[in-house]
Amino acid sequence: MSTEASSGHTEVLRHAATRAGLAPSVHNTQPWRFRIGRDTMELRADPDRRLRVLDPTGRQLMISLGCALFNARVALASSRVGVAVHRLPDTQDEKLIARIELTGRPAPWTPLVRLEPAIDRRFSNRRDFFEKEVPEEILYELTSAATAEHAILHLVESEEHRQECARLLWEAEAEQTDDPDYRAELHEWITSTGTRQDGVSTRSFPMAGPARGEIPIRDFSAGVTGLMPAVGDSDRHQCLMILGSKEDSLASWLHAGEALERLWLEATRLDYVASLFTQVIEVPELRAELRNRLELDFQPVLMLRVGQAAPNVATNRRDPNQLIEEM
Ligand SMILES: Cc1cc2nc3c(=O)[nH]c(=O)nc-3n(C[C@H](O)[C@H](O)[C@H](O)COP(=O)(O)O)c2cc1C
Repeated sequence: MSTEASSGHTEVLRHAATRAGLAPSVHNTQPWRFRIGRDTMELRADPDRRLRVLDPTGRQLMISLGCALFNARVALASSRVGVAVHRLPDTQDEKLIARIELTGRPAPWTPLVRLEPAIDRRFSNRRDFFEKEVPEEILYELTSAATAEHAILHLVESEEHRQECARLLWEAEAEQTDDPDYRAELHEWITSTGTRQDGVSTRSFPMAGPARGEIPIRDFSAGVTGLMPAVGDSDRHQCLMILGSKEDSLASWLHAGEALERLWLEATRLDYVASLFTQVIEVPELRAELRNRLELDFQPVLMLRVGQAAPNVATNRRDPNQLIEEM
């Protein structure tokens, strides 16, 4: 390969890593790093950014890494370069999450290409959603997006199941906010300064009001208050979904992350927004209860609502130059 061609490839890979860094992550921890070679990119975990209290198993860390991996795949698909993706390729190197190799062949158009512009427009939207049903064809697109990434998207439809979800979420929220370690960790990841490059910005979550809706958005107000209007309408009639994986394994969680980002970008492309609720999945007994009560035949990994709403603000990201290392 000529030097010119290889430096061109390095640029393509750097671009993919930069796009990967815009992915969602739990508490905006951005637990990733990238190593780039002539025609290889490694996505690596940064375990120091795992949430010790909220995420002892590393499930949410792995889902976040899956989101980043999916963005990288979208960026490379848009650059029309052929790639081979190897997930968790080295059991001796647990920080190595994926190795992406350029095949040297041009890639044909795939549906991932049309998701690229959505990477910049996808934000968590914790506002009131408009009272409008999500049409079936949108639900079909989102479900297909999850299936294409080997995950399951389950629509919570019956009134009884929606009530169960609301009850379990409130229970989880109460249990967590009672725990001083949980509150201390949350406090570390909330930021009210515009200059911090990670953490959840107070501009992106609502003030804790007396009316917090039937389905509680995570209460991020650990010592600081959100700057968005209080939410009164996150009610159980909204489009509520559970994302699941076939099993509880690192590989399944990674796929679930790719599925989450795929369906979230698809929703964004179609002018829909989403916000996540993971509280109930974080408390093991309540996660088990969710499975039993809703008779789920898969492992729930997160809950989300999808709809339409006024736009939300972007949260900050770390400087890609500090995250990318050349091999
Ligand atoms: C695995 C995972 C779990 C998350 N859990 C929640 C949650 O419980 N509540 C919430 O409001 N946002 C949740 N989020 C959204 C993140 O807080 C959000 O992605 C991050 O702050 C970056 O903001 P952005 O999505 O607007 O880019 C979660 C994201 C991921 C990837």
